[in-house]
Amino acid sequence: IGQNIEYVESCSSTQIIAHKLAQEGAPGGTVVLTETQTAGRGRMARKWDSAAGKGVWMSVILRPDVVPQKAPQFTLVTAVAVVRAIEEVTKLQPKIKWPNDILLNGKKCTGILTELQSDADGIQALIIGIGLNINQEKTDFDPEIQAIATSLKMESGDTVSRQKLVQSLLYYLEIYTQMYIEEGFGLLKVMWESYSTTIGHPIRARMTNQTLEGIAEGITEDGVLQLRTADGKLHGIYSADIEMTN
Ligand code: BTN
Repeated sequence: IGQNIEYVESCSSTQIIAHKLAQEGAPGGTVVLTETQTAGRGRMARKWDSAAGKGVWMSVILRPDVVPQKAPQFTLVTAVAVVRAIEEVTKLQPKIKWPNDILLNGKKCTGILTELQSDADGIQALIIGIGLNINQEKTDFDPEIQAIATSLKMESGDTVSRQKLVQSLLYYLEIYTQMYIEEGFGLLKVMWESYSTTIGHPIRARMTNQTLEGIAEGITEDGVLQLRTADGKLHGIYSADIEMTN
């Protein structure tokens, strides 16, 4: 991963560039990096604040053998890689909020957006977008997210090298995606759960057509969140917004 890096000073979204490159046949492992995005996008059609020169805004093209079934696990594996990179470069202790938010002291410092691409020939690719807030001050964020967003600098008190962070992140992405492909999710699932703020806690899961409350018991081998409601039923959650309720 990262043998082929496409760097652009500014763009609408690295996801859009990565989709285009993937359509043109870019190999798995291709990385798109930028200084700033004018239309950075988040999950659920939200926008993503991408202050110029203050974060890592990147998209990675992966071409695993069986793309669609494994998309959720690749998102979780990416989250573990981000946590390890932050730990290595800063000594902060990030946590993961299912499925893919990285938190420091309860505030979000990183978002991961996994998108699927398939072209007319049925060739598929995963486009994994990673937005990592590094050197922002509070006022660099949109007022409406200032209470919930943070950066590595805000939490550690130090300016953090974006270059070191990217190097470390690409290293761990390589190691963990390889480990996942060769050995499956077992060990990575244990790592993910050990970093998670969600597992073992009472949560509320807002989905498009319903909201459920209960205890998050774990994730399955497929990356599906297991939620036990008060009536004792176990629900598999594939996609939702999670809130802690205690
Ligand atoms: C989220 O938490 O909602 C996911 C945010 C993902 C943001 C990154 S920044 C690089 C890449 N390009 C985008 O437009 N989005 C992702």
